[in-house]
Amino acid sequence: MELPTKSESETVAESPTAVVQQPTNTPAPVRARPSATPTMTLIAASPTPAPPTHTPTQGPTPVPDPERGKALFSDHLNGDEAIPTCLSCHMVEPLPEAEAALKIGPAMIAWGNDQPVAVRARSRVASQDPATYLRNSILHPNEYLVPNVEGRAPYGVGEQSLMYQEYAKLLTEAQINDLVAYLLTFR
Ligand code: HEC
Repeated sequence: MELPTKSESETVAESPTAVVQQPTNTPAPVRARPSATPTMTLIAASPTPAPPTHTPTQGPTPVPDPERGKALFSDHLNGDEAIPTCLSCHMVEPLPEAEAALKIGPAMIAWGNDQPVAVRARSRVASQDPATYLRNSILHPNEYLVPNVEGRAPYGVGEQSLMYQEYAKLLTEAQINDLVAYLLTFR
């Protein structure tokens, strides 16, 4: 019989209840040897390092919010300028040709012969609904490569997407949900 393995998040969810400060049971100082263990200061330390929460979140994953997604799309994640913004590569409003040409990723709006991204997302990968497809595009850019478009710079080199590859390591679950909610508004 297969027992469902407890996911990590479930495991860490049970934070220790407040440590009650009690007089220690340690009896009077020992004379002979110094005790092997120096006085243990019990600080209510969390059992695992805090997850990489970049936005203050309370409790369970919040309801996805396209407005937060929009901000995430446009701003450097965690204010870190080494992490490129989605907006640096993807167009979300019509731009003059010269500027549009600088965006190395597909436009999110309808552009050229392309439908808006939430519409394209319905038929990109047969087994994936739009939300799943969009999520996957962010987390695993190489799994499905948007076909190159005649007359514009290619979207990938061989099997490698030109999209920034580190978002899976950087985004929280809530942030991914917000980004997907935002992208789903382009329809
Ligand atoms: C360095 C440029 C670059 C950055 C930064 C970037 N992308 Fe992309 N993105 C691309 C390229 C190139 C593609 C097309 C190749 C592919 O399929 O991965 C793409 C594809 C996509 C697609 C699939 C679009 C379609 O038409 O099917 C989505 C969705 C997407 N990116 C979302 C994002 C989001 C959200 C972010 C920010 C978290 C982001 N991208 C950041 C370059 C980038």
